[in-house]
Formats: sequence, structure tokens, C-alpha cells
Amino acid sequence: MSVNVHFLGHAGFVLTAGRHTVAIDPFVTGNPRCKAHVKDIHATHIVLTHAHGDHFGDTIQIAERTGATVLTVNEIAEYLGEKGLTKLEPMNPGGRVDTSFGYVALTQAFHSSSYDGRYMGMPAGAIIHLAGKTFYHTGDTALFGDMKLIGEIYKPHVAMICAGDRFTMGPQLAARAAEMIRPRIAIPIHFATFGLLADEDTVRRGFKPAGVEVKLMHPGESFDLD
Ligand code: NI
Ligand code: MN
Repeated sequence: MSVNVHFLGHAGFVLTAGRHTVAIDPFVTGNPRCKAHVKDIHATHIVLTHAHGDHFGDTIQIAERTGATVLTVNEIAEYLGEKGLTKLEPMNPGGRVDTSFGYVALTQAFHSSSYDGRYMGMPAGAIIHLAGKTFYHTGDTALFGDMKLIGEIYKPHVAMICAGDRFTMGPQLAARAAEMIRPRIAIPIHFATFGLLADEDTVRRGFKPAGVEVKLMHPGESFDLD
């Protein structure tokens, strides 16, 4: 079965295969480049890499409306429970949870994670195995050598790799990450949303991993992965 990959903008995606829809880091409200409306996101599952506002986004509103199960870091899941959500899968980097569509595993990320002035556990990347396809969303992170190991273990078809610099890897380091992960397709993310991040032209020129197809997506674009 093919998976429709829809880019919300920034680090946000919606992956759809059959009756399963997995939203990743759904930052819609307040995202200056996002073209979607929160009410149009019909998630069965939400994967949240860390708690910063540009990732946490509209998680609560979407989960309340759709009844989506949220898979995320333990501390964030506790917070969401306090806010009234009940369909939660608390996790931490290194762990994997089997789901109705496949599985979600969290990986390490070198970053920070807080929300509402509160410590929100370790930031993470996420592996999402959906309809036989595997996605690696790096979350917000610095470059680290075990990306090679993550690539070997999970063999992702698609890697979404932060490339906007300042808070995460910039384009050149993101290209090194792609060369270690070795996905079929690498999608640069987390750039151009705000003035502090690298713009699209800088990413287009700098993100050139050897031997990996690059797909530079604009907010609102989709493709089918067969
Ligand atoms: Ni962040
Ligand atoms: Mn971020």
C-alpha cells in the first residue's frame, strides 16, 4: 500500500495509508507558512518528537477532536494526561511501541525540550513504520554518529532531516546526516519558517547528500510513496 506524505510546513507531516493517518509535530496555528487548518487534520495517531511550541503545536486540539492516540516522550504524555487526553502511549528514546498500523520507535536527539515553563523530558526523533514503509523524522537535533546505526537498523525509505541551522543542524551537517542514514528520499525540514532559520535557497544549495535523492517540499505539498 502506498503512503501519502503531506508536508504541513516546518517539521510537521501527515502520513496517510488506508484508514490510518499519522500526524507528526502538527504545528499549524501560529505557523506563518502552514496552509492547513487544524480542523482539516483527521489524525488517528499523533507522534510528537519534543515539546517546543513549533512541534507541540495543535496536538491537544487535534487529539481532542479526532480521538487520536498520541505517542510521545513520557513527560509530555503525563502533561497531556493532565490536560484531559486519555489515549496516550508514553515512550522514551530507544523504545518501540507496536500500533494498529505498524510501530513507532523513538530515537535520541541532541536538543532541549520544555513547554509552559516545564521540563518535558528528553527530546527525540521518531521512526514510524506505516503500511510497510519506514520514516525517520530526526526531530530537532545536532548531528550525531549513531544516525548511521539508526539507518542500518531501521532502513528508512524516507528521512525528514532538520536543516535550518541555529537550533538544529544546518544544511551541510544535515547532508552528512542523510549520507549516514542512507534513506531512499531525504526531505529537509525546519527551515525558512522564521527569520532566524536558514532560508530555502541556502538549504537548496547546502543540502546535497551524496547518493541520496533530495525532495525539497513546500508547505501544503504531498507525494505518494509506493
Ligand atoms: Ni525544538
Ligand atoms: Mn523546533
